Amino acid sequence: MPKRYEMVANYIADQIYSGLLKTNERVLSVRQCANELGVSISTVIRGYELLQDRLLIESRPQSGFFVSQRFELPAAPEASTPEQRPVEVNLGQLALTIIKSSQNKQLIQLAVALPKIDVAAVAQLNKITAQIAREQCRANQSISVDNISEYDSPPGNELLRRKIAQRLLSGGVKVHPDEIVITVGCQEALVLSLNAVTKAGDTVAVESPNYYGMLQAIETLGLKALEIPTDAKTGISLSALELAIREWPITACVLAPSYSNPLGSCIPDSRKKKLAQMLEKADIALIEDDINADLTYANHRPRAIKSYDKTGNILLCSSLSKTLSPGLRLGWVVPGRWLERVQHLKLCNSGANASITTLAATRYLETGTFDRHLRQMRQYYKRQRDYFLQLAARHFPDDIRITYPQGGYILWIRLPQGVDGMALYESALEEKIAISPGTLFSVNQQYNDFIRINYGQENAQNLEKAAILLGRLMREMMVSD
Ligand SMILES: Cc1ncc(COP(=O)(O)O)c(C=O)c1O
Repeated sequence: MPKRYEMVANYIADQIYSGLLKTNERVLSVRQCANELGVSISTVIRGYELLQDRLLIESRPQSGFFVSQRFELPAAPEASTPEQRPVEVNLGQLALTIIKSSQNKQLIQLAVALPKIDVAAVAQLNKITAQIAREQCRANQSISVDNISEYDSPPGNELLRRKIAQRLLSGGVKVHPDEIVITVGCQEALVLSLNAVTKAGDTVAVESPNYYGMLQAIETLGLKALEIPTDAKTGISLSALELAIREWPITACVLAPSYSNPLGSCIPDSRKKKLAQMLEKADIALIEDDINADLTYANHRPRAIKSYDKTGNILLCSSLSKTLSPGLRLGWVVPGRWLERVQHLKLCNSGANASITTLAATRYLETGTFDRHLRQMRQYYKRQRDYFLQLAARHFPDDIRITYPQGGYILWIRLPQGVDGMALYESALEEKIAISPGTLFSVNQQYNDFIRINYGQENAQNLEKAAILLGRLMREMMVSD
């Protein structure tokens, strides 16, 4: 639960970020705010101090508090307009270079999609893992399903599958644990799903821009990607997808409908239903990447498209990587009518998951603390988003465009004219700041005027340092253009 003064700050901040209160407008007086929220004057004063620290409001002598003069939320980028034809994917080594650089502790890390898991959850998970190892030493069992030196086998630990089935209910998905296959992260779930529903040479429709891990999976399976226009708020264009279905022989469609990477878009529920029906009718399998849905800033996670699946046409993929620990490498897929095929592929691909992490995650989920931890994470990310947008408004050039995600921790930023994303990536790296160049998120290298940043990882001081430096580099590049 946020403290009372934080609630005051959030109450005013929400009005500013939603546009209800604009630059230079007067904020509620301390007394009015105290009456309106039923809190003490001193609580409001502390809340307003926090807002001043975040540079959202400023105090003007004899006049009260005002929305900071320099605050104006940057506009969102326009919907993408990719070249719509199936193409072979060839991303090269850039993704690997960036992922390797995420290990470099000297860098301010805004590049990779690493989550920030709160210390209490990490400590609890570590404790459980150590406990399991200790129990195993004492028991000295020879054969037991809970023995960490035994092989697990597809579909994976039953208790974990039961826990996942329970959690899926909040996305409107009702499945039996036996319909779930445990995987090595969401990445394996996506690769197994693609492998199950396609053969080399087939065409897969994808959102544009798209998570490079998905594009690489398409590349390694010898598939072609067909990029579809996508809006930063509402996700993939249904009309463009409908046209593409008429024009091209599409076998599968891959979507991250709830807080996509890098756009952060969320498809409205009514459209999710339509999408499920459209793809079902066209006999196109839908691979749904649900990995960020639990990181919503709303009270409840959005519905999964899978909740509208009547015939097993949707393969739902997710993991605990963004919500609990990427190092667990624990994911799952609900493969619908491809259940047997996916189990077979899992056996061929990695056999099974590591038993110790499976047991630790299962026991953690049994503690019942996961939802509380998620609520804290969501609030933290929302604050970080607001803070970084505020920094961007202050330090970046005026014609910047930035998404305004309602979940997750990723921003997609269109650079000012004349600034090249790759050049900015290289210059920022020399100054020890890691960002992702936009070119990584497309098969046609068309997002060179974009970058992606993770606002979740770093503390306020480092975010400010990065925003000042990125702003300066952008201005220098604009001048030298
Ligand atoms: C949208 C999306 N899907 C899937 C993955 C892969 O997740 P995992 O680490 O669970 O394999 C990522 C990781 O960044 C991602 O951003």
